[in-house]
Amino acid sequence: MDVLSRPLIDRTLPLLAEGYAWLPNRMRDASSSVVRTRIMGRPALALRGPEAVRFFYDERNVHRHRAIPEPVLGTLFGHEAVHTLDGAAHRARKELFLPLLEPTAVAGLAEHVSDAWDEAVPEWGRRASVVLFDEAATVLTRGVHRWAGVPLDDAEAGAAARDMTAMVDGFASAGPRHLRARRARGRQEERLARLVRDVRTGTVTAPAGSVLERVCGHRDLNGEPLDEKTAAVELLNVLRPTAALAWFVAFAAHALHRWPENRAPLAKGDMAFRTAFAHEVRRFYPFVPFLGGLAARDLFWRGAWVPEGGLVVLDVYGQNHDETLWGDPYAFRPHRFLERAVGRDELIPQGAGDPATGHRCPGEGLTVGLLETLAAQLARMEYTVPDQNLAISLHRVPTLPHSGVVLAGVGRAA
Ligand code: HEM
Repeated sequence: MDVLSRPLIDRTLPLLAEGYAWLPNRMRDASSSVVRTRIMGRPALALRGPEAVRFFYDERNVHRHRAIPEPVLGTLFGHEAVHTLDGAAHRARKELFLPLLEPTAVAGLAEHVSDAWDEAVPEWGRRASVVLFDEAATVLTRGVHRWAGVPLDDAEAGAAARDMTAMVDGFASAGPRHLRARRARGRQEERLARLVRDVRTGTVTAPAGSVLERVCGHRDLNGEPLDEKTAAVELLNVLRPTAALAWFVAFAAHALHRWPENRAPLAKGDMAFRTAFAHEVRRFYPFVPFLGGLAARDLFWRGAWVPEGGLVVLDVYGQNHDETLWGDPYAFRPHRFLERAVGRDELIPQGAGDPATGHRCPGEGLTVGLLETLAAQLARMEYTVPDQNLAISLHRVPTLPHSGVVLAGVGRAA
């Protein structure tokens, strides 16, 4: 039987069981950067590499419309979100997010988050120990609300942060984690839809130039403003992923604990090293496993085939650990980013291609900027890391050091 007609056995269960390692394992077994498989009842083509990225992000090949399963929309992204659109409708909605790419946005958000961190540290110091993941999520939630012009009482920041991280934590699971994520999304969409209504009726004033003002005034391709629910979904698409940087902060703390030689250059303000460290955290640690779309027509890639309507899957974790791109992919080595210029489509923890026209994350600059700032703050902070389980399971999506990274004896920034 030839490779085109060989029946495909559904691999959804191994995928759920093997998590991040599933696609890299299949590709290693096949000694290839492309594999055919079957997921969720559909034939699927999984690929990786900078050239595969360009194939994947070409809208003539792969569509996003109807590609994202409802359990992911109902938790992570929200129904009718920018992630689900193609072509002109996508570009019109993406206009909403493009100002996030500007350096002034990065500086403004970093300042708010940095202030919120400095306000929190004395309180951490009064406690015997803190779970960094939880505290970072609260700091990020507080900072991004202030920056986006979205009102949030300080007392509510912890609960809002738990909702933001629950939406990310529960998207790929069944059972209680998933239900928690759905309830969190329901609560937050309701709160933000009410806010959009209040801004539009004049009860609340959105700060000039804020994300809140932009979302409330945005018009889609049809010239109509977003309905309250969709506006709430897109506000959440700024607030939630910023809070999700707590994953990277926990990973950064893990890296500083395992490889403490990175602490001094971060603390003393070596800006090039800070950027390299932020990139290495995003490359090395597992967060987004893969991205998917639907074949817009019958597709061939490097001799493998998927019919129109089949799944096309970009192996994000595998590409960020591809030996042909990184040489020693399982070594944590920020200097790799100082030794050579890394191409746009090589490092893809937040998607690939052009963020202005495709689906690549418009918050990538914000993520790198915030991670640089917070990693430096962490490196300058006094604390100890008591005995705890810091193991990072590759079977759990999304994963985290098991303890969430407990810090004790937190002191002032030096
Ligand atoms: C899209 C990851 C932070 C806003 C995406 C995508 C990924 C991603 C993988 C999809 C790319 C694709 O489909 O091709 C991350 C990670 C982050 C992060 C790992 C760090 C924790 C942010 C931030 C913001 C943001 C800080 C905004 C403040 C968005 C939006 C989209 C998106 C609006 C949809 C873009 C589109 O469909 O055109 N992100 N992101 N993300 N991200 Fe992020």
